[in-house]
Amino acid sequence: MKPKPLVAASLALLLAAVLPQSVNAQSAPSIPGYTMGQKSLTKAPYTLADLEALKKTLLFSEEDTRYLRMSKPILADQTEAILDVWYGFVASTPELVVYFKNNKTGAPDGAYLGAVRKRFSQWIVDTADANHDQAWLDYQYEIGLRHTTAKKNKTDKADSVPLVNFRYLSALTVPVTTTLKPFLAKKGASAADVEKMHAAWVKAVLMQTILWSYPYVREGQF
Ligand code: HEM
Repeated sequence: MKPKPLVAASLALLLAAVLPQSVNAQSAPSIPGYTMGQKSLTKAPYTLADLEALKKTLLFSEEDTRYLRMSKPILADQTEAILDVWYGFVASTPELVVYFKNNKTGAPDGAYLGAVRKRFSQWIVDTADANHDQAWLDYQYEIGLRHTTAKKNKTDKADSVPLVNFRYLSALTVPVTTTLKPFLAKKGASAADVEKMHAAWVKAVLMQTILWSYPYVREGQF
């Protein structure tokens, strides 16, 4: 039997109240180590005005924000397949997989890879959300720290190498965004929209890797 419209609407409201909404920052506290929006986070050493200036330089406009948002429903249910490709790339590149190495065994640490993967999945949705507010900015600083000696391994109590070397951070933008493109095209968007979503993703990922670079740069020179 089909529910009456009013009953269906009430049911939807009730479910929206009790179930987590889409996967976003506010509704994802259950991901171990994911701390976007938490008070414990250090305030980013760069400001929202600095971010605006960086966006100008990257030619990142309101249009890019719109196209990132357009990509969200397209990517949201493909995150596992996307991560299979990205993790496959890292796993098959010895120069990269070494950063997930377990110091005792010398082999890739499956538990560490798995724990990071859950936050990586959330990151896809957060990037598409393009919510460039202070909480987002503070979490960019945190992600940067997690790639460096300051915080790498701490979140997952991993026994691994102490940092991801700086030179690879922005370089990975290319494989990440190149391999994302077919996923953007999978849900029937026009070729022009796929191009624009892809361009927005290239800028968004490069922008984040630049923000993550802060802890690598000499005091006062970022
Ligand atoms: C486009 C460049 C990159 C992107 C988009 C990216 C994305 C991410 C994300 C989303 C996380 C989880 C952040 C969190 O804890 O919430 C993470 C952590 C991590 N990434 Fe990257 N990353 C990039 C470059 C690299 C490179 C080049 C390596 C080298 C293999 C790497 C290795 C790691 C490691 C080892 C962690 C875990 C750090 C920890 O111990 O907490 N990443 N990355």
